[in-house]
Amino acid sequence: MVKIAIDGPAGSGKSTISKLIAQKLGIEYIDTGAMYRAITLKALRIGIDLEDEKQYDFLESTTLDICNGRFIMDEKDVSEEIRSIEVTNAVSTPSKISRVRDYLVAYQRKISSSKSCIMDGRDIGTIVLPDASIKIYLDATIECRARRRMLERKELGINLSLEETIKEIELRDWKDSTRKHSPLRCAEDAVVIDSTDLSIDEVVSRILQLVYERTKKMSTNAYKEGQNVRGMIINVTKEVIYLTVDEDKKAVIYANDLKGYQEGQKLYDTYYEGQEFEGSIKQIAKDKKTGELLLILSTKLEDEKEKLSLFEKIKENDEIIQAKVIKVTSAGADLDYQGFKLFLPTKYIDLKEEALHSLKGQMLDVMVLYVNKDRLQVTVSNVMAMKKEYRLAKEKAYAALSVGMVVEGEVENVLGYGAIINLGEVRGLLHHSEIDHKPVRNVAARLKVGDKVKVVIIGIDGNKVSLSMKALIKHPWEVLKEQYHIGDIFDGLVKKVIPAGLIIELTDDYSGLMPRSEYSWFANVKFDQEVKEGDKLTVKVMSIDDEKKRVSLSHRATLENTWADIKLHRGDKITVTIASIIDKGALVNYKNVQGFLPINEVTALKRISKVDEVYPVDSTVEVMVQDCDPAVAKLRVSAKAVEIAKERDTFDKYFAQQAKEVPTNTIGDLLENFELKKKEK
Ligand code: DC
Repeated sequence: MVKIAIDGPAGSGKSTISKLIAQKLGIEYIDTGAMYRAITLKALRIGIDLEDEKQYDFLESTTLDICNGRFIMDEKDVSEEIRSIEVTNAVSTPSKISRVRDYLVAYQRKISSSKSCIMDGRDIGTIVLPDASIKIYLDATIECRARRRMLERKELGINLSLEETIKEIELRDWKDSTRKHSPLRCAEDAVVIDSTDLSIDEVVSRILQLVYERTKKMSTNAYKEGQNVRGMIINVTKEVIYLTVDEDKKAVIYANDLKGYQEGQKLYDTYYEGQEFEGSIKQIAKDKKTGELLLILSTKLEDEKEKLSLFEKIKENDEIIQAKVIKVTSAGADLDYQGFKLFLPTKYIDLKEEALHSLKGQMLDVMVLYVNKDRLQVTVSNVMAMKKEYRLAKEKAYAALSVGMVVEGEVENVLGYGAIINLGEVRGLLHHSEIDHKPVRNVAARLKVGDKVKVVIIGIDGNKVSLSMKALIKHPWEVLKEQYHIGDIFDGLVKKVIPAGLIIELTDDYSGLMPRSEYSWFANVKFDQEVKEGDKLTVKVMSIDDEKKRVSLSHRATLENTWADIKLHRGDKITVTIASIIDKGALVNYKNVQGFLPINEVTALKRISKVDEVYPVDSTVEVMVQDCDPAVAKLRVSAKAVEIAKERDTFDKYFAQQAKEVPTNTIGDLLENFELKKKEK
């Protein structure tokens, strides 16, 4: 596998050169600048504060891909948008955020791990691919770079002056090389190419030349990872064995890569110089000091490779495994899982930094993040496992809930529109309208954080659980109905006197109405003169209307009903006594009830303005019933009607008399008489 790293400042020609080399060698070109640009584009779209590391949560859910030279983000081709001026001007900020760098570096390593590629950026030779086969640092004077950028822009229809472009590039150079995290640096083992006075072709052929030299060297070595080699031990320390392979090639084996090695064992007790040794190549590396080839051997490779497949399976199945922490450093922790060493980077530990030291010896839940078969490395994440465990526990908790279930919880948060109730693994919303049957406008006055509450689940929608407290409380109407029944008689407190009647207290939540007509059997009795607020009044429950939630009461129903034996019909003649004179007529007494004689029903003989002009109080009067309804204590009488009836009677009698005296004289009458007489004969 060939891995070419190209670093250099903006405008040094990295991407043009890299694309051409990728084409010529048939390898993949990975443009890491495009990734920083894409993240910048997304951050700008979402509208986060670019300086605030905490706001980059979207990273984990962002997908990046390179397909036929096009750059795809979240399944959309953003190749053009990421080159916009807005993105170019903003990209330095996300590029200095550690969280963004860690994320992209991990991604860059991942996508380049299993293939030959050429990758360009600012930190490729130093950070992303420190073991790259070839490292190039491409540079050019600032003016030359500015001119190139100008030309590129022109093609896109953007015109900027040379001075402006120089300023822009200077600023970006300064930002890229002074940032704290992975600044632009030339790797120690990089070949520096200044392209100021070189054509594109010249740069390309220079790099290709380097590639050929190196790969030739690599192929003459002809070693492959995994290959078995024999050698001789030339030096042994406590934890490392140094060997020569094929006479002049250096090889090394670390204690951890020796089958059967036990922690604490001293290698020089078992191995000695001159001893023959066989192992497989775990990694083809370079001696840091001399740059010479260095083979890192292992005698556990087969076992380890097999184990790696096991970890690949674990990763595939999203499994959580328990591994023991054997070592903690600032970079992370080494864990042991069935004799295999796993690496857990600090950032994937779900613990505060201070707590990391106490981890040694503990068992941790982890999930496999990635498996690097070449390096026999398994990186794990505790955060992921915690998240999954949390998710699983949550899913389980959700599955255990059902609508109608009564649960106990604790108020976790009080909001304007309700309260969040912690039910253990899950949370539910108690909307303010579900707290009580009565409207609750101030939730905080009813519920406090930490209050224990009993609630019923009234809805589950995905992970949204709706709760109700009021469903568990008897509706005040039900409470009322348990207390009051039709026919009940009780002493009620008069809460209000209104024109329509009396408002009588029933429960804390409800009052009943005693309509004015229900006060007395006597229509003229003025309830509002006899009863005042705060009085107690004996009343009877007449009706309970479930629909309107109304109770109607009667006071007179608790008194003797003087109307009970009144059975009068319109036209009946009765004798009444004038009880009192009122505005529009007179009140009259009849048996035990009272009726009304309207002023215009007194007499037809003369115009009067008061009843006692004709009938004084206490006089008895013969009247005719005009309307009588004992149910509503109504009796209306007319003296005038009696007068008229009497007159008619007089007339009738008079005419009857006249008819007897004067014979009929119509022809019909004559004929009829004649016929009758004939029959009599
Ligand atoms: O190469 P470019 O202009 O497309 O890169 C855009 C920005 O991304 C650049 O200003 C620095 C940043 N970058 C980085 O920090 N590290 C990389 N490996 C690549 C780019």
